Amino acid sequence: MTPLKMDGSHILSTGSAVPDICIDNDLLGTILETSDDWISTRTGIKERKILAQHQSIIDLATTASKQALDKGFLEAEDLDLIIFATSTSNDLFGSASQLQYSLGAVRAAAFDITAACSGFVIALMVAHQFIQNNVYKNILVVGADTLSQWVDWSDRTTCILFGDGAGAAILQQNKTNDLLSFEINTDGSEAKQLCINHKRNFNNTIGNDQLTNLPSNSHYQPLQMNGKEVYKFAVSKVPDSINKCLQKVDLNSDDITWLLLHQANQRILETVASKLKIPTEKVLSNIQFYGNTSAASIPIALDEAFSTGYICHKDTIAIAGFGAGLTWGSIMIKWHAFE
Ligand code: UT7
Repeated sequence: MTPLKMDGSHILSTGSAVPDICIDNDLLGTILETSDDWISTRTGIKERKILAQHQSIIDLATTASKQALDKGFLEAEDLDLIIFATSTSNDLFGSASQLQYSLGAVRAAAFDITAACSGFVIALMVAHQFIQNNVYKNILVVGADTLSQWVDWSDRTTCILFGDGAGAAILQQNKTNDLLSFEINTDGSEAKQLCINHKRNFNNTIGNDQLTNLPSNSHYQPLQMNGKEVYKFAVSKVPDSINKCLQKVDLNSDDITWLLLHQANQRILETVASKLKIPTEKVLSNIQFYGNTSAASIPIALDEAFSTGYICHKDTIAIAGFGAGLTWGSIMIKWHAFE
């Protein structure tokens, strides 16, 4: 008898978490020259959730991951690998090991992926490779970011956009494959359009010429973005990327049940949908509640779509991430409720 082929990736379960502190547009209007009208009309955002002083990105990621484990009827010890997509790690060496410890996932290897708003999509693709190659069976993929700690709260052109959050998905090896196709891109020449630059300072007061290259008080600058250029990049590259993914599996945009894009701006979601001729009813959007949560935006929206019963057996979901790097990429999913 031929052994059962088990090289597919199944989305077993999802989870998500956002902080309790809610900052709405009117509240921002008390510290910035802005208004609910401007922010809502230009972005679709009404409020964002911000990490409390006593909380960390690991708290959010742990809550989201535990939800995914519970819904998937798995224990932390069942996890073989944790991939943590974040660009706001609380340790420059990576946060995945802290998440592994916090969950008690003692058997799991763990590492970070830094790819900003494309991070979760790229992490899913990486997890899929491990499953297809029969290396791991249960992989926790987490997207979490806390950009509230990295924006300049006096810069109205950027700070109004971002919020904090975490989302998680468990990918499990299965005979039925949910991840139909993917594609991923990078254009490093445009990295300056959206960045958090490292600033090196040097200690010139030591009085020893040989030691003037010793760095001193190096730090990161606040997030900088050329909003117009990033907007143009998103609405031109994302439809193309999704079309490439569709072509790889002989589908067209009519076959898409749900369009799930990185939640950066409601106008971007609508423009991309219109370019793909996808009706707005098929566009998943929660940006009004959370703003742009970077690597967390796709898994939070995915979790909400599963929890509310939007996503059903054999639905086709087109997912695309885009952002700093510049990076962008898409995944086509056909979700199966059972084996
Ligand atoms: O996750 C990474 C992906 N990021 C994105 O996808 C972001 C993409 N970009 C965008 O979403 C939009 O470009 C923004 C929402 C950031 C900006 O919208 P916009 O329609 O491109 O506005 P703008 O930058 O052209 O600014 C228009 C005006 C300017 O005033 P003037 O020069 O016309 O007098 C700005 O100074 O609006 C002003 N402005 C504001 N006014 C009130 C900029 N920010 C604000 C604000 N409140 N918060």
